[in-house]
Amino acid sequence: MTEALRARNSLLQQPVDGAHVWRGPDMATRRDEWLHVMTPGEVADLDAAVDEVEAQGLDILDIARADFPLPVLGDTLAKMRHDLLKGRGFSVLRGVPIDRYDRRAAAVAFWGLGTHLGDDAVSQNGKGHVLGHVKDLGHDYADPMARGYQTSARLPYHTDYSDLVALLCLKSAKSGGLSSIVSSAALYNELCERRPDLAEALTQTFYRTRWGEVGSDKPPYISVPVFNRHNGDDEAAPGVVTTYVRSAIRKAQLLPETPRLTDLQTEAMDAFDALAEDPAFHLDMEFRPGDFQVVNNHWTLHSRTAYEDHADSNDKRHLLRLWLACADGPPFPPAMTKEFEGLTNNGRPNGIHIPGVPFNAPLEAS
Ligand SMILES: [Fe+2]
Repeated sequence: MTEALRARNSLLQQPVDGAHVWRGPDMATRRDEWLHVMTPGEVADLDAAVDEVEAQGLDILDIARADFPLPVLGDTLAKMRHDLLKGRGFSVLRGVPIDRYDRRAAAVAFWGLGTHLGDDAVSQNGKGHVLGHVKDLGHDYADPMARGYQTSARLPYHTDYSDLVALLCLKSAKSGGLSSIVSSAALYNELCERRPDLAEALTQTFYRTRWGEVGSDKPPYISVPVFNRHNGDDEAAPGVVTTYVRSAIRKAQLLPETPRLTDLQTEAMDAFDALAEDPAFHLDMEFRPGDFQVVNNHWTLHSRTAYEDHADSNDKRHLLRLWLACADGPPFPPAMTKEFEGLTNNGRPNGIHIPGVPFNAPLEAS
């Protein structure tokens, strides 16, 4: 090891600290801290806000926080927002009464809840979808253009292209389809301890495909490190911000213009994935209809197990999804602001945004 690398590694080996560093088995015993079951008063509050929007006939895209007042549920959502952006990085609200809502009312409720957690909903694909649908459309995950949310495949641990990702479960699978999350800050600490050379490798540039969802002025890939360290002089910084989509890295290798992965990079991703898969680190949770789960992508990875669906298409597993930008999200390291998929007016990750494609909020998966 060179002197320079040794010096760099000594910086790398400084662990990060905070509520965002956690382990799954410990969190499993602290469920009351991260899962809130809605009270009857909170449900009535949500119902009233949905009814008001429906009475006004507002377009979903036009619903702002002011259009969706929640005088009772608001305190719970404010605590969720704090825990998401300043704390552990995930939260679940259980009991959204989707059985009483039609599809549009469920989407209004979901969007309205989202306005209290984020400041903007950003686009999730090249079609400008700001209301997403996670549902098996029969696509093959091996297809270079397929996105995981369109399949029933097991998804590896990854991050999405926004500050927060929110899901509302409308229908759960016949079997499988569990949600699994892991603290990427905890993985960072562990890798620095066990294999600082691999932690260092993950601070180098990785190339990720844009799945063909790209404006004509951009290359077909983005280049961004997995681990993005802060220099430590910003008290609001979480120490390290992680962004990782291995399937996009693998699929970028199919593009002839992409620089090749090194053996060290592949070994580092293998070690990172293995740690995430280790039951000592991740937290599994079921998705019940009416569960509203929100995750901070910057220090939490998410995944799901493969699933078997119900035969009737009306009963198939179906989640609504929002990608949210938060004005008070964590500082964003320069390596990410430069190469990330465009930024909102507030300088936040802007999802998958193609200039000129209008936003839309479809009520059906496509
Ligand atoms: Fe995702």
